Amino acid sequence: MYSPGDESALAHILDLDAEVLASQLAEVIDWVGQHAEGTPLTIADVGAGTGTGSFALARRFPTATIVALDISPAMLDHLQTAALRQGLTERMRTVQGDLDAAWPAVGPLDLAWASSSLHHFAEVDRVLRDIFAALTPGGLFVAVEMDSFPRVLPHDLGFGRPGLEDRIQDAIAHAGWNSSPNWSPHLSAAGFGLLEERSFAAELNPAPESTGRYAHAFLTRIRAGLTHQLAADDLAALDRLLLVDGPDSVLRRDDLSVRGSRTAWAARRP
Ligand SMILES: C[S@@+](CC[C@H](N)C(=O)[O-])C[C@H]1O[C@@H](n2cnc3c(N)ncnc32)[C@H](O)[C@@H]1O
Repeated sequence: MYSPGDESALAHILDLDAEVLASQLAEVIDWVGQHAEGTPLTIADVGAGTGTGSFALARRFPTATIVALDISPAMLDHLQTAALRQGLTERMRTVQGDLDAAWPAVGPLDLAWASSSLHHFAEVDRVLRDIFAALTPGGLFVAVEMDSFPRVLPHDLGFGRPGLEDRIQDAIAHAGWNSSPNWSPHLSAAGFGLLEERSFAAELNPAPESTGRYAHAFLTRIRAGLTHQLAADDLAALDRLLLVDGPDSVLRRDDLSVRGSRTAWAARRP
């Protein structure tokens, strides 16, 4: 569900996710290239956020124009600034709108990409039908979802009860913050032919350099919602990890690693 007001923290996390999990994204984009027929010229990034997918697709398909769709003007501003920095403004168009309300006048599309966005839509089956209609026959649609939030902490932090991250993940699952539905039946119902559903796992040890900042950003965001879900000792341990200047801060630990998987669906409009 879209909630204006917390976009700058979310934008920061999305950019760090792109940085930390760049190798996983590269694998997914490579797989998209294997499923794309010919050279896609017009690509939509549905729920583009800060443009992680837009930029990766622009690099993979250097003659394509990317249309980044998002409800959030702040996300699209952020994306445009990045496009300017990367010299990609000519090939990057942003369209602001609530896709639950209406599909904008974009298309025909050769490829549509929706990463970590489908689960936000209240009218997902209608959005899928709109994407189907906007694609050219033979056009490719790729949906990607995180299976769960990436794990970064060691089992034993050296303080508190071991297994804090397991309990954080359980609380997140219980709160339903990262529901990860199976899109296959929805894609078929919208008229798509499913090409492949594939899991992409990342296991990064040693962790990429920005992992501490990534962990700090997303644990800070999660901490705010877990006050009543975690026991007092776990909240205290989490606060110790989040204390910017503290000796145990995630920003200075050298025992972080990244474990996370995403599922991707590739489907074609017949
Ligand atoms: C978790 S972010 C994913 C961003 C990006 N695709 C990525 O993988 O980094 C979800 C995005 O969907 C957008 N979104 C949520 N509801 C939307 C709606 N009804 N219409 C258009 N965009 C929406 C949000 O503004 C946000 O940028």
